Amino acid sequence: MKKFLIIANWKLNGNFYFINKNINLIKKKIDNLLSFCDLSIAPPYLYISYINNFLKNTSISLTAQNVDIHTEGSFTGEISINMLKDVGVKYVIIGHSERRLYHNEDNNLISKKFILIKNNGLIPIICLGETEKQKEQNQTEKVCIQQINNILENSNINILNKTIIAYEPIWAIGSGKSANINEIEKIILYIKKYIASLDAKIAENIYFLYGGSVNYSNLDIFLKKKIINGLLVGKASLTTENFISLVKKAEKIINSLNRS
Ligand code: PGA
Repeated sequence: MKKFLIIANWKLNGNFYFINKNINLIKKKIDNLLSFCDLSIAPPYLYISYINNFLKNTSISLTAQNVDIHTEGSFTGEISINMLKDVGVKYVIIGHSERRLYHNEDNNLISKKFILIKNNGLIPIICLGETEKQKEQNQTEKVCIQQINNILENSNINILNKTIIAYEPIWAIGSGKSANINEIEKIILYIKKYIASLDAKIAENIYFLYGGSVNYSNLDIFLKKKIINGLLVGKASLTTENFISLVKKAEKIINSLNRS
């Protein structure tokens, strides 16, 4: 059985005050629950190393919100995969719609990042999802498959082994409106079947996450679907007491369901 995975994506939020106040709380209240799921925190780069010191001897891991495709040199403002390894990162989010939108990242660049992360032994979390317009035009499947194909054009199917795909409808992120659960299930199944048509074993080893306005109140519907192996939580991870309640609720639900 795959362990459920929860990623807390802090985005451009947090500071030393926030971290000092909240990390010990998360450690104290959540770490002992983590036999049922893996928890990873994605703070802004600057704080990764600092937070890592708090998380030693816990099962909570660290996620980076991005990486550059260059490994060293004159690339002002960038962070390399080696630096992420150096500070103890486990997962790297790429292809997030906010990077695509505000930093003009395209499928090609994201594919390069994906391959770089895999080749360096970290785990990519690649975000796929459609805009509202693409949804209206029934383009969702095409948009998601295009990104997968782009990776495959630059590598081969083995590159997808043991990776994480996060389906994140762009219109659902930060909007308070999560996608319809049947639609989420349909899209994830579609992606999985597509990968299975290329290699069934690799498709089985992929984790599928959902992200987009997940919160304490709507958590149940995602957990009840076995095709969803985890959640990417943005806004709802920023109020620590609420986030702790969310993880505790997830634990209760998962323990009560036979998700194997
Ligand atoms: P949200 O963000 O939970 O605030 O919608 C999710 C994400 O961007 O991963």
